[in-house]
Amino acid sequence: MNTQQLIKKFVEKYGESNNVYRVFNAPGRVNLIGEHLDYNGGYVLPAALEFGTTLIIRQRDDQQISFASTNIPYEVVGSIQDELGSKSDQWTDYPVGVIKELEKIGVQLSKGYDLLYHGDIPNGAGLSSSASIEVVTAYALLSMEGKETDTVEIAKLSQKAENLFVGVNSGIMDQFAVANGRKDHAILLMCDTLEYELVPFETGAYKIVIANTNKRRGLIDSKYNERRSECDQALEILQKEIPALQYLAQLKPDQFETLQDSILDETVRRRAKHVVEENQRVLDSVEALKKGDLDSFGQYMNQSHDSLRYLYEVTGDELDAMVEEFQRESGTLGVRMTGAGFGGCTVALVHEDKVDSVIEQVAHNYESRTGLKPDFYVCGVGQGVHEIEEAL
Ligand code: GLA
Repeated sequence: MNTQQLIKKFVEKYGESNNVYRVFNAPGRVNLIGEHLDYNGGYVLPAALEFGTTLIIRQRDDQQISFASTNIPYEVVGSIQDELGSKSDQWTDYPVGVIKELEKIGVQLSKGYDLLYHGDIPNGAGLSSSASIEVVTAYALLSMEGKETDTVEIAKLSQKAENLFVGVNSGIMDQFAVANGRKDHAILLMCDTLEYELVPFETGAYKIVIANTNKRRGLIDSKYNERRSECDQALEILQKEIPALQYLAQLKPDQFETLQDSILDETVRRRAKHVVEENQRVLDSVEALKKGDLDSFGQYMNQSHDSLRYLYEVTGDELDAMVEEFQRESGTLGVRMTGAGFGGCTVALVHEDKVDSVIEQVAHNYESRTGLKPDFYVCGVGQGVHEIEEAL
């Protein structure tokens, strides 16, 4: 749906008014490498996608807020103090959580607003549709209220909305990428300090191919929290050896080598090993990217998947089958799962001349192995949250 069509839908839903509307967009994200590192204080390398959530917003003549979406049936109108005050277990928890976090930093909405969202990120695929809704809401409301739109602060408050109101204990990576992405760049983010560098993502003849396994990501929250607590256990043990250690990812691989026997639980030791080695892999991947050494970058992607499969154990049959099928194809430079895991998507770099044939072959083989029909997205790196000016 283009912006003009969306504006038409907005007027159909909310009617004409003399108040001006504005249009904003926030992308989804794909993580290129550095998985399960954000809550371990490590480096991640995500990038914004070219698809995301568009939001049209217009001031109302009362103090109410109304939320509707073109692609999710649930809609609601009310005030944040009353009807919208508690969790509904609907998608509107994301924007409501954001408004609550804005209030905590002293931004009280001075008026009511009508909001209409349109998302083109597949839901539940692990491409951060929720972060995209949170970030576009925060950016749009701050803009409407004439306040500063600091995208690092927006990422932080959107993460809090997700942690505290929605109740999902995620790290900062998704919201940060959605808020701060730059076209044709990956973001090297240090999750401990939130310092970041935009790294040109120049892939020459290679395209990013995202494949959705279409495996329902059941149990994802409990498994995610289990991994977090295993990392906490590892950290606690290692802090006895190095009291100044604040995060697992601060350890270098050779330090970990000498200390690892202090972690008696074999599972916990493997989790920590993934974190330490994956962190080094992010730094090595960025070096490779800067040198234009895409072959090495692809190898690091493959190694990352193996580590998530065997050490961190967050892949599962469908993600592994998808990765194996991509790896069988000569046009694939590298491939790995992306996001939390347990289903969701893989990300691959595939030669442009072979994209169509690789997709066709992988789709066929994946379906016969798993019985699931996959979806594919060939996409470039898009822009972080922004206003769409030309709509007006
Ligand atoms: C999910 C979370 C992120 C991050 C990834 C794993 O996407 O929302 O914060 O932890 O999983 O890298």
